[in-house]
Amino acid sequence: MCGITGFTGKESALPFLLQGLERLEYRGYDSAGITLVDHEKMTTYKAKGKLADLKKIIDPEACPQCAGIGHTRWATHGVPSQLNAHPHSNADSTISLVHNGIIENYQKIKKDLLARGYVFRSETDSEVVVHLLDSWYRRLNGDMEEALRHTVRELEGSFALCIVTTYIPDKVFVAKKESPMVIGRTADSSFCGSDATALIAYTKEVLVLEDGQIAVLSADGIKVTDFDGNPAEQAWISIPYDIEAAQKGGYDSYMMKEIHEQPRAVRETLRGRLSPEGKILMPELDQLPVRWNELKRIYFIACGTAYHACIYAKTLLQKAVHVTCIAEPASEFRYEEPVLDRDTLCIFVSQSGETADTLAAVKLAKAEGAHTFAVTNVLGSSLARAADATVYTCAGPEIAVASTKAYTTQLVLLACIDIRLSELLGGRMPDKERIITDLNNLPAVLDRTLDMEPMMERLAVLLQDQRDAYFIGRQLDYPTALEGALKLKEISYIHADAYYAGELKHGPIALIEKDTVVMALATQAEIAAKTFSNIQETIARGARVIIITGPDIPVSGFENVLRLPEIAPQLIDIPAAVLLQQFAYFAAVNKGCDIDQPRNLAKSVTVE
Ligand code: M6R
Repeated sequence: MCGITGFTGKESALPFLLQGLERLEYRGYDSAGITLVDHEKMTTYKAKGKLADLKKIIDPEACPQCAGIGHTRWATHGVPSQLNAHPHSNADSTISLVHNGIIENYQKIKKDLLARGYVFRSETDSEVVVHLLDSWYRRLNGDMEEALRHTVRELEGSFALCIVTTYIPDKVFVAKKESPMVIGRTADSSFCGSDATALIAYTKEVLVLEDGQIAVLSADGIKVTDFDGNPAEQAWISIPYDIEAAQKGGYDSYMMKEIHEQPRAVRETLRGRLSPEGKILMPELDQLPVRWNELKRIYFIACGTAYHACIYAKTLLQKAVHVTCIAEPASEFRYEEPVLDRDTLCIFVSQSGETADTLAAVKLAKAEGAHTFAVTNVLGSSLARAADATVYTCAGPEIAVASTKAYTTQLVLLACIDIRLSELLGGRMPDKERIITDLNNLPAVLDRTLDMEPMMERLAVLLQDQRDAYFIGRQLDYPTALEGALKLKEISYIHADAYYAGELKHGPIALIEKDTVVMALATQAEIAAKTFSNIQETIARGARVIIITGPDIPVSGFENVLRLPEIAPQLIDIPAAVLLQQFAYFAAVNKGCDIDQPRNLAKSVTVE
């Protein structure tokens, strides 16, 4: 989950390293550090806290070195502190390294190194790598590339490593296994970062390093080999967005900017998916070698917000087909002994395409012979490369830790996938023609929903003195309730739970007291009346209820009723999710929280 940058060229490395870390700070922000290197010496700066704290201790004038590495950390082994911050160096400060991932066998390696006299300064798993590399470098009489190959072959777990050394100060050494690493270059420099946003100010052409590869960066080129030293092919790709997409663009936070980008993100995601004849186009799915008439089950698998999108997808699809549809959190999937065979289709959903649990699940599904299909937002991500076929949400880079536009574009693409699946499986998606027509209308509906922002700002005040909030809904409203509760707790730290509306009276209603805020979703006409009864039960116990409902659903006698614009009921939870994003946003602003970088979290969870 950490962010890494590396640079070597004819000019100072510092500007690239810092701007890259700034863009990668969403990956972790409990400490940060850089090492700059030249023939004379290595200089390392490290600080606990955010990148801003690191910048305070660096004097740019005193940093002319043309090669360096940088890191922003999300602690796994060892508390956030200056000592545990990366880079980590060997004893005589000739080699310095940053790491993203987890070295699973670090204790064994550490024991061996301690026995050989190595001294450790931090509590991290990462520090073993620099000492191990040092020991190989000495044993191999100064062959750094070969030493790195020996080192990575000993490591178990996941790693993206970036290394500089005073022995060869004009090169940056990079190695990758199961943690992302992207490389770029200009005429007189080479550089790398944990993702393409770190590089976008310098280039749009990038090389996504593959698992098991080592790259050696120098001012005039990039050499890529496998862990055995065999040359590897370099497949360069173009980043599908510009620098503006990775900037705040006048908004106070990335989250608010990304909330407002949703009409455009949805439009982009739908590009090429709807034919003029009103059909869904999903050739990536059609081309899977699935025996559709034999297919027995479809799993939707993901984590966090993306898992909520999976619950939406399975609820929608199950109404249209006889095949069993299941939504599973990726972190549980492989422990459930799922039935995986050639008559199983597994659909994986991930904004980043780098979530460790989701990647472990895709690996298992493939190993057991199931068909694998990915929905992700990141071109060339590990998930995209692992799955049999991939479709992309075209949300652009999502930088705020709290997912917004990635979620709504996932719902849009999953609705399209469900419709196409229902056709391939000979099922019948209720209201199919209306859904397809309204997918076209969705960006305009989202624009009108965004206009309801002042109402959400006003209603968020209800949470001011509250420690808890409850979100309820039935059917397609249930994943929306889950997502609304997740958004609220992750950015405002107000405890929030989501329940099926009908489940409330089976226990949770005991928690409702005077002024408890209940956010009730009642957008599905055929069951709205039942949800209204559940709402009355909470009002009878003193709850302040906010109701989000459709344009024509009869509602009377309630205090706060928000009516969404006209749209197919199968899609109405997409604008409903936008209102809940705004609700959480204003609740967090009212509490003075850090919107984009909430405590304890990181955007991309690359550990299991
Ligand atoms: O990158 P992914 O979609 O795989 O991330 C999965 C979750 O970590 C993520 O959705 C998380 O729950 C959100 N940041 C919450 O807003």
